[in-house]
Amino acid sequence: MADGAARQQKFKDLYVLATDGAKWTIDQDFEACFDWTYDDGRAAMMGLYEKGKEMQWNAQTRIDWSQELDPLNPQGMPDESLPVYAAPCFMKMNETEKGEVRRHFQAWQLSQFMQGEQGALICAAKIVTQVPDCDSKFYAATQTIDEARHVEAYKKLLTKFDAVYPITKPLAELIDQTLRDSRWDMTYLGMQVVIEGLALASFGTIRDHAKNALCAQVNAYVMQDESRHVAFGRLALRDYYPQLTQAERDEREEFLLEASYLMRDRFDAIELWQNLGLPIQECAEAMYTSGFMERFRNSLFSRIVPIVKDIGLWGPQVREGYEKMGVMGYANVDAQKLQDEDDTIARDFDARNAEIARVIARAGANQGQPAEAA
Ligand SMILES: [Fe+2]
Ligand SMILES: [Fe+2]
Repeated sequence: MADGAARQQKFKDLYVLATDGAKWTIDQDFEACFDWTYDDGRAAMMGLYEKGKEMQWNAQTRIDWSQELDPLNPQGMPDESLPVYAAPCFMKMNETEKGEVRRHFQAWQLSQFMQGEQGALICAAKIVTQVPDCDSKFYAATQTIDEARHVEAYKKLLTKFDAVYPITKPLAELIDQTLRDSRWDMTYLGMQVVIEGLALASFGTIRDHAKNALCAQVNAYVMQDESRHVAFGRLALRDYYPQLTQAERDEREEFLLEASYLMRDRFDAIELWQNLGLPIQECAEAMYTSGFMERFRNSLFSRIVPIVKDIGLWGPQVREGYEKMGVMGYANVDAQKLQDEDDTIARDFDARNAEIARVIARAGANQGQPAEAA
């Protein structure tokens, strides 16, 4: 979609809105912890570490980045997935104007993925430094390289959209809270459970609905890693939370609910509508009334709720909160099954790509032969 000259641009020049400075810093107050025991560690945790090592991939070579995007609908998503698709301001636009809104909305969403991935990169590195047990440090080290690769992949994909948006305030607020807290488990809870859980559900919507193969594929590969990350948070916290007092668990539950509401209700994309010169009130309302968005907002919790239940933060306030949000139905979702599916779907993409490469190679070989033999 972008021409060669635009791709030569510096990435930061693709920002369509100014960022709040070139760097963002969050004060830290925690201890770096060494583990001299070098204990063998928990079998399940070491199993995840082994998987983490074996399933490394290279974003430059596993994906064919030459695939192009349609400028009027880069991801090839159905229009219902656009929050404003039924809003009067959108309905009266011509096709070119509608295409501009699609491209910018998708770039805004993808930008949040990329910015969130940088948050995950920093959180994973913090976990390596702070977590007391060696097995968790080993695993989190593999996650750190995974997250760097995710930033790389989303950055590369965003370049093709010719538009990048700064981190949206609610996401920045949650990452700030997660990193600022000096207790190691809060990094897991904020990042591995809430942010990664939400991210998995959002990535899944694109992986499963995008008609553009490149966009679907990037999300499928990232999800293959992410579901391992969520499993890590689940394992570590399931062991830890039963050891806390009820008051300590209550505090975590409060944080969890606040974070859940923050992510569900405040992702209103105001800065996007503003940038596009659209009526903000009308667009913000559409974001809440569109049926697809309502289903999307609820589905965001499909990955979080079963984990929260599993790690034992399942007191009355969390259950009541999730009941009010209408997401209790996800309590019995089989998280392991979803993780296995994420893996299978990513492998299916690999198989399809290998088949395409075989067909191209065969066609090339046939072209090189005399006509009667071909
Ligand atoms: Fe990630
Ligand atoms: Fe992750």
